[in-house]
Amino acid sequence: MRTPIIAGNWKMNKTPAEATEMIQALKPLVKEAKCTVVLCVPALLVHAAKQAARGSKIKIGVQNMHWKESGAYTGELSAAMLKACGVDYAIIGHSERRQYFGETDETVNLRSLAAIRNGITPIICVGERKEQREGGYTNSLMEYQTLTALNGMTADEVKKVVIAYEPVWAIGTGLTATDEQANETIGVIRAAIARKYGKRVADKVRIQYGGSMNPKNATGLMAQPEIDGGLIGGASLKAEDFSKVVNF
Ligand code: PGA
Repeated sequence: MRTPIIAGNWKMNKTPAEATEMIQALKPLVKEAKCTVVLCVPALLVHAAKQAARGSKIKIGVQNMHWKESGAYTGELSAAMLKACGVDYAIIGHSERRQYFGETDETVNLRSLAAIRNGITPIICVGERKEQREGGYTNSLMEYQTLTALNGMTADEVKKVVIAYEPVWAIGTGLTATDEQANETIGVIRAAIARKYGKRVADKVRIQYGGSMNPKNATGLMAQPEIDGGLIGGASLKAEDFSKVVNF
């Protein structure tokens, strides 16, 4: 019913030449993919990535964007600019941005609204830290982070967003949530969306798992009914690894 979506998050890696090389290697490997395939690259690599991806189903995204249309915001990029450069997706509120760059649930909301209104699909990241899971706060936190991010969207807009459930303790650590843990928490997120926007809307929203997802664990995670895809960091940097996740 929902088309799965596998998105790579390259973080702060690769030059334009390396991006071109990786995408050219990836193209034949994902030709038969049954899911949406996205690479979220550093904004500076969008041009090279778009050119390399031409003629394939690989969509290009970025890893952050500002919520204002234009103006005196030194160093920032707007959704309208990114859209004009062919960007179709933007990761919003990644835990590294929350941790190192002062991202809050409120700015995640502003960025998500700006993305959706400019025709960019936000991949909105939510996730609990280790001590929050251990304290029993995961479900209430995920509901809060998700509904705050969506605040002010119409039901039709909510249908278009992608949510990435990324437990912070699983990112870049080699620790993954178990298939059941990921499925259960994603179910909690979907139920919260259903309570506010209705089941018909919640059933449309694609919710990914992220956090040390790789060729070895992708099949098990993707077999879970609530999990609609993955947001892949480390394993998205090499064409072979990423293609194996895409072809889960
Ligand atoms: P990881 O990163 O796959 O390297 O854990 C995931 C992410 O940060 O989105």
